[in-house]
Amino acid sequence: MIGDMTTPAGHDHHSDQWDKQLASLERDGRVSSPWVSQAVQWLIDDMAGPPIEHVVDVGAGPGFAACAFAEALPSARVTALDPTASFLERTRERARERGVADRLSTHEGDIDSSLSALASADLVWSSHVVHHTADPVDALRKLGSLLTADGRLAIAEGGLPMRVLPGDYGLGAPGFPARLDATLDEYAVREWGLPEAATGGAKDWPVMFGDAGLVPVQSRTFLLDRPAPLHDTVRAYVVAQFAKVREQVGDRLDRADARALDRLLDASDQVSLIRRPDLFVLSASTVHIAARGSATTAAER
Ligand SMILES: C[S@@+](CC[C@H](N)C(=O)[O-])C[C@H]1O[C@@H](n2cnc3c(N)ncnc32)[C@H](O)[C@@H]1O
Repeated sequence: MIGDMTTPAGHDHHSDQWDKQLASLERDGRVSSPWVSQAVQWLIDDMAGPPIEHVVDVGAGPGFAACAFAEALPSARVTALDPTASFLERTRERARERGVADRLSTHEGDIDSSLSALASADLVWSSHVVHHTADPVDALRKLGSLLTADGRLAIAEGGLPMRVLPGDYGLGAPGFPARLDATLDEYAVREWGLPEAATGGAKDWPVMFGDAGLVPVQSRTFLLDRPAPLHDTVRAYVVAQFAKVREQVGDRLDRADARALDRLLDASDQVSLIRRPDLFVLSASTVHIAARGSATTAAER
């Protein structure tokens, strides 16, 4: 996903908190689908050994990636696990729309208490979930325990923040977009209690794999490049993300930056995100792969 710092949470995963994010995760899933498809294909290519029979998507949200795996692997079973019932309902609906419902099942549960109920998996995918857990290293250990002997754990975490206009957006004092990112990071750590190790960069994910008794295999970053002119639905996504940013951290910005953010969201302003013809989406999302025991890549096999 793209603007992940604007999702809720902290350590608990009360479904009612997440429930409210359905529309936002749906928009995000649609905009993100090009990089997610690339990542899915990359993972499958890297595992060009024994056939992949079972994929588990942990914290699957409304099921975009789970469906992408089911489509890309026509003989595999896919399990989508999430604590939020409405997301799983949407996942089942999406699976029916995409004609993969016979191979995709859903499981209501979370990393802490539900993984032992699942069959082991050749591939465990978890995108933008682990940093929401109280103890990311422990979560990685639990995710790793779901793997078959040659299985792979792939987590999508981090990358580069989204940019939507050239340069400094031409508004506010120099550095306005970077200050927005920093304010959001600070908010995520302080308000939601997101573990600093996972968000603040104190440790990198491959290092945390090692701490969790897993072997880091490789990391790769996928670019999402949606150039201007944007389709209306993508523009609506950008506007919604910035509206959420204003709601969350608008009062933490200095006066000039708060004014710049207001202008970006003011439909009557020529420079607003709603009107500018040069609006784009550029971001980067990183996927980190780990294995149990001593790992080999497809190239080495
Ligand atoms: C930011 S969303 C990411 C959704 C999807 N993976 C994506 O990348 O678009 C985080 C998801 O993790 C789920 N979640 C939160 N805490 C969880 C936990 N402890 N175990 C499993 N899933 C959790 C939420 O219900 C939500 O669907």
